[in-house]
Amino acid sequence: MIISIIAAMSDNRVIGAHGKLPWDIPADLARFRSLTMGHAVLMGRKTFESIGHPLDGRKNIVLSKSMGRTDGVIVARTLQEGIAAAEGDEELFICGGEAVFREALPLCQRIYLTVVHGQYEGDVHFPQPPCSFAEMHREEFLEGSPSTTYLVMEKVDQIQPGSDVFELREKGVEALNRQLYFLARCCFGQAQALEDAPETASDLAFSQAKSGGDVGEALKLAERAFRDDPDNLRIRLNLGRILVLAGEKGKGLEMLRKGVQAGGGQEFYTELAKCGTRGTPPIKSLPRSHPLNRYLGLLMNRLNMRG
Ligand SMILES: NC(=O)c1ccc[n+]([C@@H]2O[C@H](COP(=O)([O-])OP(=O)(O)OC[C@H]3O[C@@H](n4cnc5c(N)ncnc54)[C@H](OP(=O)(O)O)[C@@H]3O)[C@@H](O)[C@H]2O)c1
Repeated sequence: MIISIIAAMSDNRVIGAHGKLPWDIPADLARFRSLTMGHAVLMGRKTFESIGHPLDGRKNIVLSKSMGRTDGVIVARTLQEGIAAAEGDEELFICGGEAVFREALPLCQRIYLTVVHGQYEGDVHFPQPPCSFAEMHREEFLEGSPSTTYLVMEKVDQIQPGSDVFELREKGVEALNRQLYFLARCCFGQAQALEDAPETASDLAFSQAKSGGDVGEALKLAERAFRDDPDNLRIRLNLGRILVLAGEKGKGLEMLRKGVQAGGGQEFYTELAKCGTRGTPPIKSLPRSHPLNRYLGLLMNRLNMRG
């Protein structure tokens, strides 16, 4: 699970005043909603009270030592307990306020930060992230009132200027493994600019699709990489995943199943399982995790004996 912080702060780092947000920016609230929807959100008791109700479509975790049982929320007594309650989710969003951000910063891998331009009066502030966080994505909305800048930062070992294709690819793959998709996109983008290669193009496409880039563009890039190197299982895996992300689930599943038949391993099974496509185990009377079921299932998939 990736732990992210999501916050909006003014140029002078204010995030709140007298228990409320000091601004009203519907577009930013809409972005918050769309980023967090379907995931776990964790917040301090005062932030929860300022919202006034659990956030719909999300697992709500509220940190408090004083709050009793409350409908629609999990009350956690410590940050660690709150994080444990989100386990199993792909991404946990830490939503504030100040003390919660401060405590969570050393544990988090990504920060979605809206900078609201202007000096605001307030009583709570956003702490300075450590310099291990690098900006991975920036969008300016200067015509808004107030104008805002939307930033995504990820915890990284900085990309060394002058890195060669091998180093960039290695860093990109490591970032993908850690689900640091913005960083992966930077690394593969730079590697691809130095040397056009199908596998790098395919990894770039996947990190683009996962980091809020244009999924249609990512799909075109992944398809091109697949045409250039159809026997490469990593390229096939990326294309299968991107097809699913692009809403073409049937084609994506076919791509992934063929990957299994071609000898693809655990990553293909994991993707298929995420799509909820696991069939009944070969020996129904034994648990799915029983070694006989695991090896028979593997064999049947390899021999294309499962629908
Ligand atoms: N701009 C933004 O992105 C943003 C985001 C969130 C909030 N805000 C603003 O920030 C303000 C609220 O934030 P705040 O900093 O005053 O309060 P808060 O962090 O929302 O809530 C503080 C409370 O959370 C509980 N808590 C915090 N850390 C805990 C821990 N480690 N273990 C157990 N409980 C813990 C405690 O509750 P108990 O006292 O019950 O033990 C504590 O009093 C509001 O103005 C809100 O609008 C802004």
